[in-house]
Amino acid sequence: MIGLHLMNHPRTARRGNTLSAGAMAVAIAATFWLVADEGMISRTGWLVLVTGGLVGAALGLWAAREVRMTAMPQLVSLFNAVGGGAAALIAVNDLLQADDAALLGARVSLPGGLDIVIGAVTFSGSLIAAGKLQGVVSGAPVVFPGARPLNILLPVSFVAGTVWLVLAPDSRAALYGLVAVALLFGVTMVLPIGGADMPVVIALLNAFTGSAVAMAGFVLDETALIIAGMLVSAAGGILTKLMADAMNRSLANIVIGGFGTGDSASAATGSGAPVQVRSVSADDVAIQPAYASKVIFVPGYGLAAAQAQHELGDLAKLLTDHGVDVSYAVHPVAGRMPGHMNVLLAEANVPYTQLKEMDDVNPEFPQADVALVIGANDVTDPIARKPGNAISGMPILDVDKARSIVVIKRSMGHGYAGIDNELYTHPKTGMLFSDAKKGLGELKAAVGEFVG
Ligand code: TAP
Repeated sequence: MIGLHLMNHPRTARRGNTLSAGAMAVAIAATFWLVADEGMISRTGWLVLVTGGLVGAALGLWAAREVRMTAMPQLVSLFNAVGGGAAALIAVNDLLQADDAALLGARVSLPGGLDIVIGAVTFSGSLIAAGKLQGVVSGAPVVFPGARPLNILLPVSFVAGTVWLVLAPDSRAALYGLVAVALLFGVTMVLPIGGADMPVVIALLNAFTGSAVAMAGFVLDETALIIAGMLVSAAGGILTKLMADAMNRSLANIVIGGFGTGDSASAATGSGAPVQVRSVSADDVAIQPAYASKVIFVPGYGLAAAQAQHELGDLAKLLTDHGVDVSYAVHPVAGRMPGHMNVLLAEANVPYTQLKEMDDVNPEFPQADVALVIGANDVTDPIARKPGNAISGMPILDVDKARSIVVIKRSMGHGYAGIDNELYTHPKTGMLFSDAKKGLGELKAAVGEFVG
């Protein structure tokens, strides 16, 4: 819990991570010690435990080192799948192992049934979510005939199956039926949701994992598991709500909406009146940051997609060394996962003092000589202040209030919400059409001509 608390701030997050990993190591060692001390398992059991631990640790280490930062959401989703699946297996095992089912009673079979339902839904749902983000499953909302009635029917059958299991804890039909129906629901629940909504779905499934683990705690009569599970469940629930709020959408709208395919390829000029776009080159605009006293960088998903954080950090350093007041405006849902921009910028060793959250940085935009937007779209779109569009009411970064604006992105393509961005056609805005990595490299070289 202290580790989680330390993760509240980028400055202490690494320490929080190390502390949490250390605590987990102690927990694993204590479990091994307890198992050995009480002679709980056979030699084969030990073999399974140690092999499983080693394989899991090796996979975890490999994933943490090798998986690209932009692929983190699908990795988290796979972790959720493993957590939910493991929790469900605990209940399945307990119900299968019981010699005398009557002894189990509702104290075990009720949380056991709930554990199976929540854990199995999380398992299959998380695999589909990871598949969508990885491009293995279509990112577009997949709606098949009868999907809606099926998604109502399946949860009803959970209730029936759980009641059946409580009444007849030794019924294999009830047990396997419940597992099958829950696995199916995980698939049919997540398939119709658009790929770009997956991060919110993953946070929701994370909350499910916590609930499944808490239920497993009731099955095993383990208070620590109940507390840990509920902590994860509550944290996942709060995160889901914060993400939905920051996108100004309800959870129901996300789960039922079929909105957001993650496709940013469409053109932004087809909505009616002709729009004026001022295209600029790195050489045209380099003089602005070079002679500015205050520059605010606005990173977005495109920075992550281009993996251009180091180029951005280098440009910022060049300007800081030249005496320019530099800061980074971080929107809570910029990118595709919570804290996406913080993680990227930390990778580039950006000083934490230069990172500013939306509410702190918004009053500073009118004093900024230049706002440099790198691959950010929806989080800067002033149209959010008007009613009747996909992002109405979403809090945005007040980039349009800066004295001058430069946007680096590849085209007039849409962001996640799929709508035109009024910032790009603002008279103060120059569009530097380029991949973020390449554009930032060129801009740094051009700024270097002035300040070098
Ligand atoms: P977006 O609105 O998604 O826009 C990203 C922009 O990056 C695109 O318009 C794209 O334009 C540009 N881009 C892509 N690849 C690029 C590259 N290689 N170089 C330069 N630019 C590139 O991003 P945002 O402003 O960060 O907003 C995030 C959106 O995601 C919000 O709508 C938010 O609600 C949603 N969302 C966020 C989260 C979390 S938790 N962060 C979760 C779910 C959904 P071009 O194609 O023209 O280059």
